[in-house]
Amino acid sequence: MSRKYVIAANWKMNMTPSETAGFLDAFLKNFPDPTAVEIVIAPPFVSLAKASELMAGQSAVGLSAQNMSHEASGAFTGETSAAMLKEVGCQYVILGHSERRSLYGEDDVVINKKVHATLAAGLIPILCIGESLEERDGGQLEFVLSQQLEGSLLGIDASQMPGIIIAYEPVWAIGTGRTATPEQAQETQCYVRSVLERLFGADVAAAVRIQYGGSVKPGNAGELIAQPDIDGFLVGGASLDPASFADIVKAGI
Ligand code: PGA
Repeated sequence: MSRKYVIAANWKMNMTPSETAGFLDAFLKNFPDPTAVEIVIAPPFVSLAKASELMAGQSAVGLSAQNMSHEASGAFTGETSAAMLKEVGCQYVILGHSERRSLYGEDDVVINKKVHATLAAGLIPILCIGESLEERDGGQLEFVLSQQLEGSLLGIDASQMPGIIIAYEPVWAIGTGRTATPEQAQETQCYVRSVLERLFGADVAAAVRIQYGGSVKPGNAGELIAQPDIDGFLVGGASLDPASFADIVKAGI
């Protein structure tokens, strides 16, 4: 089983184009050797073009959007299509982040359409799933995660699955400073892999990369990445500082 770690920076609604330039200037200078790790940066839409321009000529860091429309073009005010993201240099798209689900009403039906549109365009979806604290405490953890996986991956063929990255992010750990313990994260990620096995078979389950996300920092990245079913991170707050994101990447090397 050799799954290459994938460590992604989810900047959320932070980083103007000039701030993006400042980050990349610092980050690409003290760049950790990327051979063992795939590094991805997800700036907001308006900063993608600047990031793409500054990352040209190096293949070590990939570019991701934080969302995408499942529609190809047309009268969808405020939306962004796969073709637009591709032209600006994106290779990845974060889909179904818990903030999209809870603040903007995205459900598994629409996320499923986005997963299909992303794959059809040759982009790599980073598909986010995760339970709330209420759901975990109420014994709903496995039900919620399997519902999210079944719904958002509906109609996806096993042959497409190695091109999808799953990000397990317990909602109660996002931006709260409260990380899942390495044991909690491992146990849950192992469960997520078992659902993938049920849906797509053992070979797919062994190949798909499952990131952990939720208050990952330089101080906890090492013990989390040491868990056998954690194949990388989706990092929010701690990815906004180039030195701290570089330290998290180094944990994966
Ligand atoms: P956080 O965010 O690292 O700030 O908890 C993670 C995420 O929401 O992707």
